[in-house]
Parts: sequence; structure tokens; C-alpha cells
Amino acid sequence: MDNLDFEQFMGSFSCDYRLVNSDITGSIAHVKMLVKSKIINSSDGREILSGLNSILKDLDKGWKLPEAEDIHYAVEKELIRRIGAVGGKMHTARSRNDQVATDLRIYLKNEIKDLLNLINSFQKTLLQKASQSIDIIMPGWTHLQPAQPISAAHNLLAYAQMLQRDKERFEDCYKRTDVLPLGNAALAGTSFKIDRIYSAKLLGFKNITENSLDGVSDRDFAVEFVFCTSLTSMHLTRFCEEIILWMNPEFNYITLDDKFTSGSSIMPQKRNPDCAEVIRGKSGRILGNLTALLTIIKSLPLSYNRDLQEDKPPVFDALDSIKICLKVINDMVESLKFIKKRTLKSAENGFMAATEIADYLAKRGVPFRTAHEKVKQIVSYCIENSKNLNQLSIEELNKFSKIFKKDVFACIDLKNIVLSKTSYGGTSKKQIFCQIKNLKRKIL
Ligand code: ARG
Repeated sequence: MDNLDFEQFMGSFSCDYRLVNSDITGSIAHVKMLVKSKIINSSDGREILSGLNSILKDLDKGWKLPEAEDIHYAVEKELIRRIGAVGGKMHTARSRNDQVATDLRIYLKNEIKDLLNLINSFQKTLLQKASQSIDIIMPGWTHLQPAQPISAAHNLLAYAQMLQRDKERFEDCYKRTDVLPLGNAALAGTSFKIDRIYSAKLLGFKNITENSLDGVSDRDFAVEFVFCTSLTSMHLTRFCEEIILWMNPEFNYITLDDKFTSGSSIMPQKRNPDCAEVIRGKSGRILGNLTALLTIIKSLPLSYNRDLQEDKPPVFDALDSIKICLKVINDMVESLKFIKKRTLKSAENGFMAATEIADYLAKRGVPFRTAHEKVKQIVSYCIENSKNLNQLSIEELNKFSKIFKKDVFACIDLKNIVLSKTSYGGTSKKQIFCQIKNLKRKIL
């Protein structure tokens, strides 16, 4: 094996390069703290800080750091190249172990904020789409079988609710990421009289870690982060699955902008929902990253172990994947249009008014279980006679129960069924307005 292969095997530069800004931000705070605590003198401190700032400036212009084992060594090497041996004082009272944990936390704190914005934007799109779809009636399913008619808005808002929980989960993950391990040094802490609270203040961290062994080896925040991306992505797959079904010509409930579908190289008639499929597929990767990360950390003895270097690829892959999925799904859903006639037609099939008829009887004193049995017989009768429920005459209905009066027909009108679901959180117009109002308060 040649040396280059081995160095690449051991190193992490290509992957952790994206931590460069977090790394330098962490170092700037650390050096300021060292000066304030009189561990290094202020003229050395100034030199180091100007060296770090000059690196930052060059990076801003698109210049790249030369390769090293990892990003921490790369920055330090470049600093020493620029300002000489005094640059070596930067690493006083610090180890790469507390440094890398710090960098990852700084990085993820920023990314969580970005993700919250992305989720929020998608929720806004859903809300807007929902507001336009309140009067669109579509079949509600359980077991993927026709169940009860619902408003299309209600369906869209269900996803906005999931995403609200996703946001809350990311916010919660942020709290545990917002704890600074810097100052734990390699594992045991340091004999230098450092001021960890000052470092935390400079870096905008709410808390500092309480146990140095835990501080350098804890990656729970990263696991939580990947779990949050997993759950968000799993939610996206549920929506994509519905979009894929809705696009199927048997349903034909929606259209999407052509950009989000593709044809077939052989079958000229095809309009495939590829984009939704890719989002569904990406979740496999994201969920895989969660398993990978947990497995890397599982059984590691305290404190830092080099295995932990393998934490970054799954974290970054999960992050990149969820970000692109959120952007794409947002645009795709913006272009989604319901084919109102089709969803209504579909809602008319499948005897979706059956529960309503049972409720009609129950509201007039028939025990619900008896009513349920009666309506089952009515549905069988309809199937035998190739009729829909709303095609039955009052005489036919009265053969099953004398309780039926003509007002039953208004009850089984699809629009009225949807309007009647006025229980809190139900699919009636009134409740949907209420849901939109509540969500708006959390989103906008
Ligand atoms: N590149 C390493 C990582 O990502 C940095 C820490 C190395 N520490 C060590 N003691 N070898 O985890």
C-alpha cells in the first residue's frame, strides 16, 4: 500500500473541510480567551488573530487550504506558515478532541437554523395550497381503501402538522447542541487557568459541558440531528407516496409541473412522478446514515476514539439530503394542482357515505352497532343492484329501517358530509379555517 492511500485512510480532510469556518471561529474565541486569562500575552494573541483573519479573508475569496490530515491541522499548519512558530501557541490548553466536538456543534447550530427556515417555507407553501383547496372534496383513505370524504386542504394540512413537530424536534436538538465542550482538552480538562464561560460567551453557546470525558466523546447531538432529519425525511416520503398515487391515471387526482415528472425513453405515453420518487429514495440514505452513526458510536469506551472521525460523513450526507429534498418538494408542491372533478368523482365511489347513514340512525336512537349492521346490509344491497348510496329511493331505504326520512339524502351529500365534521380538528370548513389560523401563528 502506498503512503498516500494510508494517509487518506487515516485522515478526514476531504470530508471535514466544510468545518473550516467553524474551526477558525472556534480558534479565534479560544485565543481571545487565552489572552484574557493571561495564558498567552496580548501581542502573541494579536498576531495569531490577525493570521487567522487573513486565512478567513483568503477563504472568502475562494482560496483553499492545502491538504493536511484534517481541517484542524490544516488551519494550524497554515497559520504557522504565515506567522511563524508563535502560531503554535493557539493550541495551548486545547486538544483536537474538544476542538472537533466544538466545530461540529458550531456548524450544526447554524445548519439547524437553516433547516428551520426551509421547513417553515415548505409549511407556508402547504398552507397556501390548502387555503386554495378547501372546497375540493377527495376520498379520505384508511388501509388505502375509500373511507370518508375529506377536504383536500385537510390532507395537505396534515403534512404541515407533521412538519411543525419536525421543527419543534430540531429546536429541541438545538438546545442540546448549544453546549460547548471547548476547554475539555484531550479528555481530563487542563491545568491552565482557562475561562470556559468566556469562550462560550464569545461563541454564543448557552451552556458548557459538565464532564470533560463526556464532553469530548459525546455525539448525542449529532445522532439527534440525524434522527431529526430522518423523521422529517420519512414524513416527506409519506407525502411523496400520496403524490405518486395521485398521479397514477387510475386516480388522476393531480397534475404537477412537467419539470417534476419525466417521460420514458421507450414508452411515449409516460409521465412518471420521478421527483417524488427521488425524494422517497433519498430517505433510504438518510435513515441509513442514522443507523451508521449509531453503530459507529455504539460500544465505544470513554473518551475520544478515532472511530468518531467517521461521524461526519453520515451527518453531512443526512444534512445535504434533507436540505435538497425540502427545497425540491417545496417547488413540486407549489406546482401541484388538484383535478377537482376527478377527486369528487372518486369520492362518490366506494360508498363513502356509509358511516353517515349509520350516524343518521344512531342520532335517532338506534344503537350504533345495530345501525352499523343495517348499513352493511344496505351497502350489500347496493352492490347487488349496482347502485350508489345516493341512488337509493326512500322506499328502498325504508325496507331496512322505517326511521329513514327524506332528510337522509341531504345527510349523504358529499359536500354536507365534509361540512358536518365540525369536531375540533375535523375536516369541516370551519375547523380547517381554525387549523390554518393556528398554524399561521406558528409559521408566519
Ligand atoms: N479528525 C479527527 C476527528 O474528526 C480530529 C480529532 C483527532 N484526535 C485524535 N486524538 N486523533 O475526530
